[in-house]
Amino acid sequence: MKRQRVIELLTCTPPGTQIKAAGWVRTRRSSKGGFTFIELNDGSSLHNVQVMAFDNLPNYSDEINHLYPGASIAVTGRLVESEGSGQSVEIKADCIRVLGHADPLNYPLGKQRINFETLREVPHLRARTNSFGAVARVRSLLAHEIHRFFHERKFLLVHTPIITGNDCEGAGAMFQVTTLDPLAPAAPDSGTRNYADDFFGRRAALTVSGQLEGETYACALGDIYTFGPTFRAENSNTRRHLSEFWMVEPEMAFADLNDDADLAQDFLRYLFDAVLQQCSADLEFFDKRIEPGLIAKLEHLVEQEFTRITYSDAIALLAKSERDFDFPVSWGMDLQSEHERHLTEEIFKGAVIVTDYPAQIKAFYMRRNTNERTVAAMDVLLPKVGEIVGGSQREERLDYLLEAMRNNNVDPDNYTQYLDLRRFGSVPHAGFGLGFERFVQFCTGMSNIRDVIPFPRTPRRL
Ligand code: 4AD
Ligand code: MG
Repeated sequence: MKRQRVIELLTCTPPGTQIKAAGWVRTRRSSKGGFTFIELNDGSSLHNVQVMAFDNLPNYSDEINHLYPGASIAVTGRLVESEGSGQSVEIKADCIRVLGHADPLNYPLGKQRINFETLREVPHLRARTNSFGAVARVRSLLAHEIHRFFHERKFLLVHTPIITGNDCEGAGAMFQVTTLDPLAPAAPDSGTRNYADDFFGRRAALTVSGQLEGETYACALGDIYTFGPTFRAENSNTRRHLSEFWMVEPEMAFADLNDDADLAQDFLRYLFDAVLQQCSADLEFFDKRIEPGLIAKLEHLVEQEFTRITYSDAIALLAKSERDFDFPVSWGMDLQSEHERHLTEEIFKGAVIVTDYPAQIKAFYMRRNTNERTVAAMDVLLPKVGEIVGGSQREERLDYLLEAMRNNNVDPDNYTQYLDLRRFGSVPHAGFGLGFERFVQFCTGMSNIRDVIPFPRTPRRL
């Protein structure tokens, strides 16, 4: 008999059917009357299926009565309408095969509730909890819907490299990739080690963004996107920074900043709608346990036009507000998380797209505006998580790009391919990057980004 998933048993298998199920025991209650209730979860749903076992089963007293949370079992039996409250169907077991016992003294996920911080110590087991199971299902659904969105709009998926020689954001926050032995002494008279001896013969690192390679494909094929892991060696210990995170980066040829902002809005609303439609049980759980009002928040965003405001206007509004910010507001500063939250949560009560930031706080590749002080950048800000998307129209004019490189201490010799795009058939183009974990955070209400990626990497933690 083929195993059925718990979600199927609970939602579409007719009572009376002979079935097989398998999963992990959440709880067992044995009663003196000669029967036992087991709450069984297999990860397909937030909900467990209840298994009822009577003492006429041959392994009742020596195995079934010694099942503890975390044990794995396979059950065959009949799905029946449940007489108890709280579930509509349950399994009346004909046979329970114990696949693996779990020692109640050592299993870290006993019956009591454990906080998220403690669960971070057991990343290999935490997916068995309600919260992490729900996060994993939402994360998976969102990843699929991201591909679906771009596929429907005929964007090509481009796999950009993970090992690269460029520093897209120019922030120097890169993890170096080397095969040189850090413990081996340098050659006697060379003084320092030379990249010429290294694997690639030059300095290499893990990518901070697939954008620059993405641009080369957009400038041949039109609309593309990449979705992959990115790495930042910044020493940020916050609720919204990871050293390894996933980014979705579309890039469109023949597009300007407005087109870019339109795409970001359509994209985010599409994903909010998808998660509402397809993850309702998990969202109800998050709404009840993690962030009250979560569903209403997402529903509101599906309908809402995102507010668009220039950086200069945003600064003026923040300066006028009564709030006493830790970082005083002045033109030219980067927006801090407290400013982003004030804009989204207090002033506009929703998503905000801030455009046209000062050139000096943005990367070299963003297109200079005619006023010369600002660039055609845009950040999408959401309540609570703040910046979720960073993007821009790209500088397509060779002379401006070279000047921006000079101003940002970027060596043009390392970017000859990128500059060639401006030498041969240059076109206006634009794109953005969505931080996937920040987005999962927003959709689940989870307050720490370390709890929305299976194995978080952060400073001093691997
Ligand atoms: O704003 P960022 O740095 O933009 C870029 O990397 C551009 N090259 C993207 C592009 O235009 N193609 O990063 C984009 C997004 C941020 O808005 C944020 O959501 C997320 O990536 N992000 C992080 N998420 C988790 N941990 C970190 N350390 C992050 N740094 C950025
Ligand atoms: Mg940014």
